[in-house]
Amino acid sequence: MEHELAQELNRVLEDTTPGALLSAMGRRLYFPKGIIAQGAEAKQFSSLADGTLGIAVKQKTPLMLPALGKQLPGMNAGEIVAYAPTAGLPVLRDIWAAEIRRKNPALGNSAISLPVVTPGLTAGVSILGDLFLDEGQTLMAANPSWDNYILMAEARHNARLRPVDMFNEAGIDLSALGAALSEEAQKTGFVRIILNFPHNPTGYSPTVGEAKEICGILRGIAEKGAKVLVICDDAYFGLRFEEDVEPQSLFAYLADIHENVLAAKVDGATKEDFAWGMRCGFVTFGGKNLSGAHYDALIKKTMAVIRSTISCSSTVVQNLLQKMYSAPGDTLQKEKTAYRDIIEARYKKVRALVDAKKTHPLLQPMPFNSGYFMSFKCKNIDAESLRQKLLYGYGVGTIAINEQTLRVAFSALDDEDINEVYTAIYRAAEELAG
Ligand SMILES: Cc1ncc(COP(=O)(O)O)c(C=O)c1O
Repeated sequence: MEHELAQELNRVLEDTTPGALLSAMGRRLYFPKGIIAQGAEAKQFSSLADGTLGIAVKQKTPLMLPALGKQLPGMNAGEIVAYAPTAGLPVLRDIWAAEIRRKNPALGNSAISLPVVTPGLTAGVSILGDLFLDEGQTLMAANPSWDNYILMAEARHNARLRPVDMFNEAGIDLSALGAALSEEAQKTGFVRIILNFPHNPTGYSPTVGEAKEICGILRGIAEKGAKVLVICDDAYFGLRFEEDVEPQSLFAYLADIHENVLAAKVDGATKEDFAWGMRCGFVTFGGKNLSGAHYDALIKKTMAVIRSTISCSSTVVQNLLQKMYSAPGDTLQKEKTAYRDIIEARYKKVRALVDAKKTHPLLQPMPFNSGYFMSFKCKNIDAESLRQKLLYGYGVGTIAINEQTLRVAFSALDDEDINEVYTAIYRAAEELAG
């Protein structure tokens, strides 16, 4: 039996694409009018004293150990140890919403939800799985893809991750992608797909033309009646190293593409702002003709996952980031550009080394033009054997994604090591082949 608050949210979402896509768990979830809601109400109106939350205060400010506070000079106890709201600090959410629009002008005036703060992008993808992926259903993703997708889809949800061979030697295999999407739509009436660009592990992003085609294919599927969830995992957003790479997230084009499409953007500070372990990501929804009430219901469902798993994201991290984003001047953008340029220089170095061995019989680079990574297709050698040889024979760490794919995070290689690393990769492959 669904809780009456869940029923209320489900009624709001009735006859909408998100409503049709909800999983059984997604339908059951609601944001309780309990401690968090009553606490938020009290924060606004308790003029004498606030005895709602399980924290300790003195003179109306949270007690913070001086030994902790002195580590973070310039920040007060409320900014460090108080609980953050379930959906995140309002000021940070507003900043990120404005940033999404700034980076994705194609959004135009399309209505999108306010971003909800998550502890990193992993949590964002996982939340969307809880809301929209049921046992026995299918989540489509590129083959190969980030290994956490299959862990979430198959081990957590007992759903199926359908690998789509959407990369060919030149870039995106649009006909393979289109065929897989059509087949899925025809079979079930639903498509759930996660698109991750710049891609992990290949390092590929669609060109402007390919991005248009991908969106066109998705629109075509929606026009034929399928309900479509597109999760845009934009972890490596902004790291494009070739002129023809699409500069905006596909979310910008999908948020208003067709009533049968729900787009969900997962992004954050983790990689974009070089703050991997700080754990700050965002989930944002966009769908044609969704109203404020629909977005509100989706946000409440998202908050319900957060409340029932991690309760809220770290206050101090949100405040640190919020202060960084709000600082006057262009220092942040300049620093980001400088770091981005470091990665681009590594990309260029790797590009030149790999292009010089284009016809190598054992290692075929998959297309790459962006992000942190590139991958080799291993021909007639096993990727795991190559990984081990590189690690124990040459002291070089790489990842064997599957039997045929070896991933190299060139973002993590110091410039002066790149030449030696790639020489070792080709040499180790040749030694393995005998
Ligand atoms: C494609 C992709 N999505 C999401 C993540 C996770 O990001 P976070 O560290 O913010 O959880 C990664 C990290 O490796 C990734 O490669």
